Amino acid sequence: MEQVSLATKTPSNVITCKAAVAWTANAPLSIEEVQVDPPKAGEVRIKIISAGICGTDNHILEGKNKVPLPAILGHEGAGIVESVGPGVTTLKPGDKVLTLPLPECRECVYCLHPKGNFCKKENILSPTGLMLDGTSRFTCRGKKIYHLYGTSTFTEYTVADEIALAKIDDAAPMDKVCVLGCEVPTGFGAVFNTAQVTPGSTCVVFGLGGIGSAIVMACKASGASRIIGVDINEQKFPRARALGVTDCLNPNKLKKPVQEVVMEMTGIGADFAFEAIGLIETMVAALKSCVMSYGVCVIMGVAPSGSQLSFDPAELLPGRTLKSSVMGGYKTRDGIPKLVTDYLQKKINTDVLITHKLPFEKVNEGFKLLREENCIRCVLTLRP
Ligand code: APR
Ligand code: ZN
Repeated sequence: MEQVSLATKTPSNVITCKAAVAWTANAPLSIEEVQVDPPKAGEVRIKIISAGICGTDNHILEGKNKVPLPAILGHEGAGIVESVGPGVTTLKPGDKVLTLPLPECRECVYCLHPKGNFCKKENILSPTGLMLDGTSRFTCRGKKIYHLYGTSTFTEYTVADEIALAKIDDAAPMDKVCVLGCEVPTGFGAVFNTAQVTPGSTCVVFGLGGIGSAIVMACKASGASRIIGVDINEQKFPRARALGVTDCLNPNKLKKPVQEVVMEMTGIGADFAFEAIGLIETMVAALKSCVMSYGVCVIMGVAPSGSQLSFDPAELLPGRTLKSSVMGGYKTRDGIPKLVTDYLQKKINTDVLITHKLPFEKVNEGFKLLREENCIRCVLTLRP
């Protein structure tokens, strides 16, 4: 049971609330009573309202991406500031925020560079599962519980560093804009910032889940004339076509490697290829699907921990470019609130990227939908 209300706003009390705890990989999440410590200096405690289930959360639960466990997963969340620790200047109780798996400290060499966004305070490449001060704010059954990427959203309350929160418009509907915390910027930014897709181009998108679908939308918005979608789950095809995919390929049903089929379909290869699955073999297939001389391949999928990407360098020599980005290259605290404004002004319609909604308690059902069905994104509602 929750022991405080928003009205108390005191940053010294521990909150007891419900959270989905991942005790180990390859097991369902367990809904538990957890204790959430008050925010320390530079930190903010948030009441989570809505949280999306992302492919990365699934990779972690399936043991492909290693993070410290037991942990509270989830990194795509919309919430309301409950209390702030000492020294927090940009947020106050009641503010609406999105959690940011990639922070923006605005001080490091990458944040200060006009092109950079990979903040030095990130917790993605070698996740510590801890706050920036090296400790955790979660306890369950007397045990320390780790955070995920400084976010942890599958919980009624979480604590995040101020630099890992984007303050958003008060009018933003939380169940809709939560996907602007990861799925949408990752996909849109891959196209608009990283690849810079040009009108009339041919694109191929590997993976038609949440990120791939956002990529498809952005390719279409960039004026791509042909968008080839690749997925082994054909239940994803109707929605992909509705978003702009012109040709769907299921590699399991092809007689040749998918890159050879893309070459035949296009004559020379795609101008832009995107990998939004997170497998080495599809990363290489994406690269080989690009036109020589000027093709651009952008890898957005997160490969299993410890894997190595290898291919004949002669694939690159003719002038192909291999790129990647985190959160689509957006400086998160600056860029993501602008995407929320674009959403509120109806410049972008990202509602089509949310296909399922479930109460928080059914989080395991949400993972099942993501793995097996026609789900693009499932959003969990913590407090209806
Ligand atoms: N070939 C083609 N498609 C595949 C394959 C494969 N071998 N394996 C899986 N897929 C498809 C799935 O059917 C699914 O539609 O890839 C899609 C992945 O989508 P989601 O599970 O919704 O994941 P998403 O959130 O889009 O993330 C994709 O980007 O951010 C990273 O870590 C994330 O690596 C993940 C990737
Ligand atoms: Zn994500």
